[in-house]
Amino acid sequence: MATPEVTMTLALIKPDAYPKRAEIIEEIKANGFTIVKMREEKCTPDLLKVFYKEHEEKHFFNDLVNFMASGPIVILALSKVNAVPEWRKLIGPTNSLVAKEKNPETLRAKYGTDGQCNACHGSANDDDAKRELGIFFPELSA
Ligand code: CMP
Repeated sequence: MATPEVTMTLALIKPDAYPKRAEIIEEIKANGFTIVKMREEKCTPDLLKVFYKEHEEKHFFNDLVNFMASGPIVILALSKVNAVPEWRKLIGPTNSLVAKEKNPETLRAKYGTDGQCNACHGSANDDDAKRELGIFFPELSA
């Protein structure tokens, strides 16, 4: 049987959950993730437009960029076996209202509010993780 692969994902603690970042970071560690890199930053709208490029045609794009630029965020590179799906499992459904209803133990249920202010971000798949990690931590792919 193949050895399970340790991979990396990009995780963000968004402005709405920033005041609860210490609790969230404890949950990250308690769930077996290794924090490879971590820093805090108030991102510019220009950087966020690049980061959220796949959503640029969506009706919520400008609101999303403004929300994400409204305050500091915590940016993390996390590693674990199957880091991408494991992190997505821990954060739960995109919409925090759905998370509260269906997966109340998840981070978006506990720390988010609705479809936009949903506390955390996680890369969708390994290719996205590579692209997103490259935006915030280019030194990891050097
Ligand atoms: P995330 O999955 O991290 O990345 C895309 C973000 O867009 C998502 O979290 C939400 O913050 C936001 N988003 C997704 N759908 C909606 C929506 N219908 N209305 C407003 N914001 C949304």
